[in-house]
Order: sequence, then structure tokens, then C-alpha cells
Amino acid sequence: MAKLRLDKILADTGRWSRSEARVLIRAGRVAVSGAPVCRPEEKADPERDAVCVDGAPLRWQRRVCLMLDKPAGVLSATEDRTQQTVLDLLPPQYRRMGLFPVGRLDRDTTGLLLLTDDGDLTHEILSPKKHVPKRYRAEVAAPLSEQDAAAFAAGLTLGDGTRCLPAGLEIEPGGTVCFVTVFEGKYHQVKRMLASRGCPVTALRRLRIGALELDPALGAGGWRELDETELKRVFE
Ligand code: URA
Repeated sequence: MAKLRLDKILADTGRWSRSEARVLIRAGRVAVSGAPVCRPEEKADPERDAVCVDGAPLRWQRRVCLMLDKPAGVLSATEDRTQQTVLDLLPPQYRRMGLFPVGRLDRDTTGLLLLTDDGDLTHEILSPKKHVPKRYRAEVAAPLSEQDAAAFAAGLTLGDGTRCLPAGLEIEPGGTVCFVTVFEGKYHQVKRMLASRGCPVTALRRLRIGALELDPALGAGGWRELDETELKRVFE
């Protein structure tokens, strides 16, 4: 890959700010392929060159992607003056990495949210052309019927004329719990689709993006890094 400035390579790990990285480099604590480098503007290829800080090899990744089980009451945003955001759930090292949420879940929606520092990846996941399926579990205030499932499968037109792509609706016995699969990401889409059938949502949780399932071990507010193999599942 293209060579990067040494201070950027260090800062990309989230362990140091860019200015802290410069101090470390100038102090002679950073070596590239065994040779100390004291100029922050010097470049290295972090995938090929062994970069060490105080003799310890640096763990550098091309991109970072986290899976978060978003709790209710938290904003899908990077910062907000008054409300807690998903970034506030992460430790400082990850807050310094320039991560942002891949799309949004409503404040009261829970479940699978990806966070990354890779704009191209975000575009690929959110692009309407990719039709990446997103699966939700919804609780609704009035029972759904098979007619509703047929209407979802045909493609709904919402009250304001918005046309939705055909979507999946699986109804649990009793009718007030369902699983919705959508292939696009319109504003409040699942809530608006169910409300248009006279069944307002009382709880919504995202379970899956593509074939990538929310890790049930995380629990509300829990998160972990995804490796590239797991990430590929989004596009399966
Ligand atoms: N659809 C909604 O209505 N809300 C969400 O948070 C996600 C999908």
C-alpha cells in the first residue's frame, strides 16, 4: 500500500493523538525495520515495514470495524452537546480512531450497529444499489395478518407516496411480534411500513445486516472488533 507519515501510522491505532505521536518519534522511541526514525514526516508502509514503539511491534490495521449492540436512548452520532452517543460507549482509544456509525438506528431502536473509520465500506453497505438486507425484530401495538405480509412482499406505498421495495414480513403466532427484512434504508422505514398497516411499532431491534448476525454475547452497549472474514458476511 501507499506509504504513510509515521505520526499518522501511530495515531491510526488510537493509542496516541497525532501530537503525542510526534513527541514519541522525536524522542527516538520509534523504529522502522529496526532503525530509529526521529522525523514524524518520514513515511513507511505499515503493512510491510515493522514499526516498533519502545521495541514493541505496532498493531496497525487498514481499517477498523466494530459491531455494537446499541442500547435504547443512545444517539447514532459521533457527538452531541446534550445526549449520549454511540461513540461515548467506547473507551478513549477507540474514540480517537475517527470511527462513525454505518447509517443510523433511531434513538429508541436497539441492536446491531456497525462503526468504522472507512468511508468506502460505509458507502458499500448503505448504497441503495447493493440491496444489503437488514433484518429487524419488531413488536407492534395491533396484530398483523398474512395480508400485511403479502403487502410487504408486493412493495408498500406509504401515506406520503414513498414507494418501498418488496420486503419480508414474518409474523409470530399472536401477531404482535414480527421479523421484517428490508433491502434499503429510508428514514424510519420499518416503523413507517408497519404504521402504514395500522400496526405501530412499540419496540424495534436490528438483528442482522446481510448475513452478519448481532453477537448475542455482547449485551446492551457491548461491542467488539470485527475481522475481515466477519465483515465479508455483510455482503453475503
Ligand atoms: N427503521 C426504523 O423505523 N427505525 C430504525 O431505527 C431502523 C429502521
